[in-house]
Amino acid sequence: MSLHTKGAGPTSSRRDFIHAAALAATGLAFVPGLSAATRGSMGIGIIGAGRIGGAVGLEWAEAGHEVFFSSRNPDELAPLVQQGGSRTRAGLPADAAAFGEVVVIGTPYDAVPQVGMDYAAQMRGKVVIVFSNPARQNGGAPSQDAMARGWGVVTPELLPGTRVTRAFNAINFRSVTSEAHRAGEKVGIPIAGDDAEAVRITSELVVDAGFDPVVVGGLARASLFDPGTPVFVTNMTAAQIRETLGLR
Ligand SMILES: NC(=O)c1ccc[n+]([C@@H]2O[C@H](COP(=O)([O-])OP(=O)(O)OC[C@H]3O[C@@H](n4cnc5c(N)ncnc54)[C@H](OP(=O)(O)O)[C@@H]3O)[C@@H](O)[C@H]2O)c1
Repeated sequence: MSLHTKGAGPTSSRRDFIHAAALAATGLAFVPGLSAATRGSMGIGIIGAGRIGGAVGLEWAEAGHEVFFSSRNPDELAPLVQQGGSRTRAGLPADAAAFGEVVVIGTPYDAVPQVGMDYAAQMRGKVVIVFSNPARQNGGAPSQDAMARGWGVVTPELLPGTRVTRAFNAINFRSVTSEAHRAGEKVGIPIAGDDAEAVRITSELVVDAGFDPVVVGGLARASLFDPGTPVFVTNMTAAQIRETLGLR
């Protein structure tokens, strides 16, 4: 397990969370343009809480969300849960898939078919944010298929019945920890998805993690931020990503 270290710990997030809980009770959850503190807490289950899943999950917990990290060996996640504090917990992938409104897949891409089959019932109808990139070297059949036919074509086939988005695939896990909520223009996170509500929720979670969402379009356009593209792991701002990709 990689350690996700940063200098300063949570500051006002606990106070914000109490505020959020009160507002969530009034039905204000998921109002666009409001911060996590104002919108209320979400439950997020993370399948594949390794380097990238762990780093982003910690930012969401700090923002006030409830985060369920999972592993096939949950005991190994004790340090991550200790770091994340009371809004994080650890368990098995099936329980993470059943937890909350949003599921994140941060496994190697070649595991996505198995995740899609084994946890289909728990994930049905949910927003599923996929961080996984096809393995370009020594990748198995799923990686090769995604590279040949397109990530945005293959991935929803592997996760039927879910509302797939792509995000956090084009930033290094170390940058998540070091650049989250940085002063000035934030690092942009490209997002693709066919379901407008899922894209909106993903965008809000990008903001909550301390980054600037850049909606690139539907899943067919997800290849614009594949590994090897000009915007991949560059820590560009949202404006720079838009200019590079020719977005308005
Ligand atoms: N590293 C980065 O900076 C980064 C950034 C963006 C995107 N990505 C992409 O995200 C994916 C993960 O990368 P990573 O570097 O975070 O890998 P990692 O540190 O190895 O984490 C992957 C996690 O997936 C879990 N896993 C593997 N197979 C599984 C299965 N069949 N069912 C359930 N869980 C499974 C593993 O947990 P257990 O073995 O404990 O179950 C492991 O903790 C890759 O596709 C990568 O391209 C990585």
